[in-house]
Amino acid sequence: MRILTLGCWAMACGCCLSAASGDLNLMPQPAHVIPGQGKLKIDQSFRVALTGYREPRLEQAAARLIEHLESKTGMPLSPELSGDAAGAALEISAAAASSPVQKLGEDESYRLEVTPAHARLTAPNPLGILRGMETFLQLVEADKDAFAVPALQIEDRPRFPWRGLMLDVARHWMPAGVVRRNLEAMAALKLNVLHWHLSDDQGFRVESKRFPKLHEMGSDGHYYTQQQVRDVIEFARERGIRVVPEFDMPGHTTAWFVGYPELASAPGPYTIESKWGIFDPAMDPTRDAVYQFLDAFIGEMAALFPDDYFHIGGDEVNGKQWERNPNIQVFIKQHDLRDNVALQAHFSSRLQPIVTGHGKKVIGWDEIFAPTLPKDIVVQSWRGQKSLADAAKAGYMGILSAGYYLDLMHSAEFHYAVDPIEKESAGLTAEQQARILGGEACMWSEYVTPASMDMRIWPRAAAIAERFWSPQEVKDAASMYRRLAVVSRDLEWRGVRHASSHHLMLERLADGHPVGPLATLSDVVEPVKEYSREEARQYTSFTPLNRLVDATRPESDVAREFGNLVDRALAGGSDASSSRDQLRRWLTGWRANDAALAPALEHSFLLQELIPLSKDLAALGSAGLEALDSLTTGHKPDAAWLEKQQALLDRAKKPRAELLLMVAPHVEKLVHAAGRL
Ligand code: ACM
Repeated sequence: MRILTLGCWAMACGCCLSAASGDLNLMPQPAHVIPGQGKLKIDQSFRVALTGYREPRLEQAAARLIEHLESKTGMPLSPELSGDAAGAALEISAAAASSPVQKLGEDESYRLEVTPAHARLTAPNPLGILRGMETFLQLVEADKDAFAVPALQIEDRPRFPWRGLMLDVARHWMPAGVVRRNLEAMAALKLNVLHWHLSDDQGFRVESKRFPKLHEMGSDGHYYTQQQVRDVIEFARERGIRVVPEFDMPGHTTAWFVGYPELASAPGPYTIESKWGIFDPAMDPTRDAVYQFLDAFIGEMAALFPDDYFHIGGDEVNGKQWERNPNIQVFIKQHDLRDNVALQAHFSSRLQPIVTGHGKKVIGWDEIFAPTLPKDIVVQSWRGQKSLADAAKAGYMGILSAGYYLDLMHSAEFHYAVDPIEKESAGLTAEQQARILGGEACMWSEYVTPASMDMRIWPRAAAIAERFWSPQEVKDAASMYRRLAVVSRDLEWRGVRHASSHHLMLERLADGHPVGPLATLSDVVEPVKEYSREEARQYTSFTPLNRLVDATRPESDVAREFGNLVDRALAGGSDASSSRDQLRRWLTGWRANDAALAPALEHSFLLQELIPLSKDLAALGSAGLEALDSLTTGHKPDAAWLEKQQALLDRAKKPRAELLLMVAPHVEKLVHAAGRL
């Protein structure tokens, strides 16, 4: 085997990635893979040995590994852990303990060596072991004879130390079980920060013993008790995940003011917000009593959340309450503050020492960035990549979330192409680039419920996880999609419900009718993108999210595959004929689907909005088939036919029922190709 050079390894440059590593079902792809000869068979004699440093967390992780292997293979396995490598298929050896409270930037590297005789996973500390266990599990596959892991040598470490997922549990409440199962999925993808967005206008979701009116009056009764918070943090720690709480201030604070209106910049009274958007209420940054309250509150929360970082929010303050409050206007003049931005900077600069005083470092959305703040804050860039580069140039650390908003319903490929270090950051020095710590995928919860949350996050977040972990050179979208499909299947076995809840929601909609035709329609549509749902109707936290737009997946695999087939059929290569055959099968199915689906659509008020979509899908099926016939026979279709199809296509490409028929642009390519004959 080739010896890896330290220089190459230290730079995680990806130059040792072999073609073979892209073929392995690994996500995220490791920094270095060297293929070996043969395979290690995984059968019922499989045993794990823990040699080296030992702690309960490692023993529990080894026990989970065996359980996951059981669900992956269906084979009952022995839970027995040995301390002796002899006779164990997998030897796990950590050199020493990691920090009791996981730190940003702790070593997560590991080495996995697999030969036909055994596998050995070593790491400087348990964090690397946790990461390497996930790699080992992903490598287990069935071949003609048995389950096996290919012989290889992996040396792996993350590109970025901050690899997060933000969960908004304020707008729609997410019970602790939902958080736990998403932590389990995060661990499978080597993500290491849960950013827990715990308060917003629509809810305050943590028990405060010091200020009980926060959760009692600021929530609908759904909040985490402090014991539940501790349990989630422990669950995350066992999986090598830090938990960073966010209490969004000074805006997005209506829920705080229901119980404590004296914190606000206008007298109130306040009620919990039920609509979505940006609202006027904001803390009064001019009053000492507000900072005294925050000092006591943050003191309580700093003791509850052990992580070094504390997220103070800071986004989207519209300043209207400040402008309407004469005392605040006097304060602005007295302190020579230019505008609301300067007033918010004043707030941040008073809040920051309070947070630091409780032993924490500040992280906030990019609005908090002001050159007066100390350099150990972390700026979370959501408004664009430029703010990240600006912060890094000014000496601040930052993470990227712009481009990773899962609620905007973009494809995995879209997110995958966004890199924390690119374009605007290209002019950064190596030192400035090193201040970019990574990024976070964000799951804002205006349009998700506990039933749909997993489906909105997974599997797309796995592609983002690869962006944060793997060398920058790993960016082939076709390889990503191939591996994503495998990850997606594995995740469901880990307890995430992204696939099963989709199916359950379709069954609920079908209401006793066969679910197949509805699934066929669902498979070719996607929810509208970006913030279009806000424009479609007035949603509130009470609006049921029970339509097809809520049940359907954010990304249509069928449309993507159909589009690839269209491109291959039109390119005229050696596979053009088989591509045309496959296209015909899809199109024929869609042409027939409306007749099969119509009884269900007519039966239910929830489905009637889909009648035009279903009819158009059938018409697209016919249009595509007729275009293919023309392309096969070489007979150019007449102008009237083309005009009719264009009218259909123009209609089919427009959103209806907040859904997009994703196959329409691909059928259009066929129709236009026929028109060009
Ligand atoms: C944000 O999306 N307002 C951080």
